[in-house]
Amino acid sequence: MNKKIVALILVIITAVSFVGCGNQENDQKSEVSPRPIVIQGAMDVEVETLVSQLKDAKEVKYGTWTYWEGTMDNYPVVVAKTEIGMTNAAANTVFAIEKFNPIAIINQGTSGGHDPALHRYDIVVGKKAVNFGSLRSERAEYGEGIQAENWIPMNNAAIDKETGEEKKVFEFEADKNLVETAMSVASSYENGTVVEGIIGSADEWNRELDRIQWIHETFGTSTEEMETASAAQIADVFDVPFVGIRILSNTEIHNEEYDRESGIYCQEYVAKVTKELIKQYSMK
Ligand code: 5AD
Repeated sequence: MNKKIVALILVIITAVSFVGCGNQENDQKSEVSPRPIVIQGAMDVEVETLVSQLKDAKEVKYGTWTYWEGTMDNYPVVVAKTEIGMTNAAANTVFAIEKFNPIAIINQGTSGGHDPALHRYDIVVGKKAVNFGSLRSERAEYGEGIQAENWIPMNNAAIDKETGEEKKVFEFEADKNLVETAMSVASSYENGTVVEGIIGSADEWNRELDRIQWIHETFGTSTEEMETASAAQIADVFDVPFVGIRILSNTEIHNEEYDRESGIYCQEYVAKVTKELIKQYSMK
């Protein structure tokens, strides 16, 4: 055989086996590294405790958002700092899903009470999340004033990933197993009560008691904050199991003012929930 042809064949064989090796490595990687749990919080006081519990935490940035990749009980966990508000929460969730391919997302942190039965430090495990800032009004003429109590709740427009069509969504249901697991450690919580409820989100901080009551009666909200429904909407589009877990850091209803310590209590509770989930995921 001509020397040049032999050399060419050798080059091809080497190239093919090199590519083959690469594939094997990738296959092995996906077998040995399970999909991580992503835990989101908006502010430092809502992520620091969780980050301190990660082993070998590595900080990465996507866009302007910070993520810490590490492990808890030898299972991969990513803590994500969303920053404050609905838009930040949505964008942070897109990056979390695209970059880490999570098995579940927990959005957690502080909130303000809407349900008179709840007090500061109580925790709401959100069986649903609702965007209570999505409202429309009937036409009114100049001089007829602003009647916020007459505003009408609107559906959110989410895109169905399967069909690409718009689907009308009023509220976002949490994953049942995540809710059950989050409730399974409720009796161990010592700073208040843990209840299942509805988390309301909007770019708003409400302190008028009549408005708080109106939102509570109209949307069934247990508590309000600024991120969960937005993150839930994105998780829903990508079919990633999701739950919101929110502590009451304040409640106007009982004149209980914001306490930043509550953010730490919430993270400690979420760490317990995460460890329960890790037990389940490690058995699979
Ligand atoms: N209303 C709105 N957001 C609140 N937060 C805590 N309490 C409230 C409240 N009563 C959270 C939001 C946001 C930050 C300002 O604090 O989720 O991230």
